[in-house]
Amino acid sequence: MSRMELDLVRLTEADLPGVLELERLVYKQPWTESNFRGEFDRSLTLPLGYKDETLVAGYCFFWLLGPEIHLLNLAVRPEYRRRGLARSLLANMIAVGRRAGVGEVFLEVRHTNQPALSLYQSLGFTLAGRRPDYYDDGEDAAQMTLIL
Ligand SMILES: CC(C)(COP(=O)(O)OP(=O)(O)OC[C@H]1O[C@@H](n2cnc3c(N)ncnc32)[C@H](O)[C@@H]1OP(=O)(O)O)[C@@H](O)C(=O)NCCC(=O)NCCS
Repeated sequence: MSRMELDLVRLTEADLPGVLELERLVYKQPWTESNFRGEFDRSLTLPLGYKDETLVAGYCFFWLLGPEIHLLNLAVRPEYRRRGLARSLLANMIAVGRRAGVGEVFLEVRHTNQPALSLYQSLGFTLAGRRPDYYDDGEDAAQMTLIL
């Protein structure tokens, strides 16, 4: 189960079953199938993932919006964590942004999600604010940004 056995690809709707399986495994309020279909159909959305023939091990979905990137969703299967998959997905997102002349990357994260906060901080993201009641269960979001 090393990262080397996985391919880094642009995901397509054909990957939807594996994406949904991972989404439902990881999130208590998962995106729905129609949420994902909407993003696969949206021309400004880039879905990157690590996968093999049997599963999707990790993904990130982001919007490339002219001078900005918005990270929408990021998840890694529990058995593949702490192997650098998320860091690599985000590094690829940032490289796409740099090639496209993006100036800033934005994201929201649950303010109690320490693994994700540590990950983003390790990549240079800084706290930019807090959105109260951002999530359906009432939790606040931390807003983070990275200047490219
Ligand atoms: C957050 C998440 C995507 C990290 O994925 P990952 O592939 O395990 O992360 P990486 O292996 O690339 O970790 C890179 C760095 O992030 C930080 N990090 C990752 N997981 C961490 C944890 N559990 N505790 C503390 N720091 C952590 C570390 O700095 C790590 O570097 P290191 O392993 O050299 O110490 C994964 O835990 C996950 O899917 N969580 C549930 C969904 C989620 O919270 N998504 C983000 C929503 S905003």
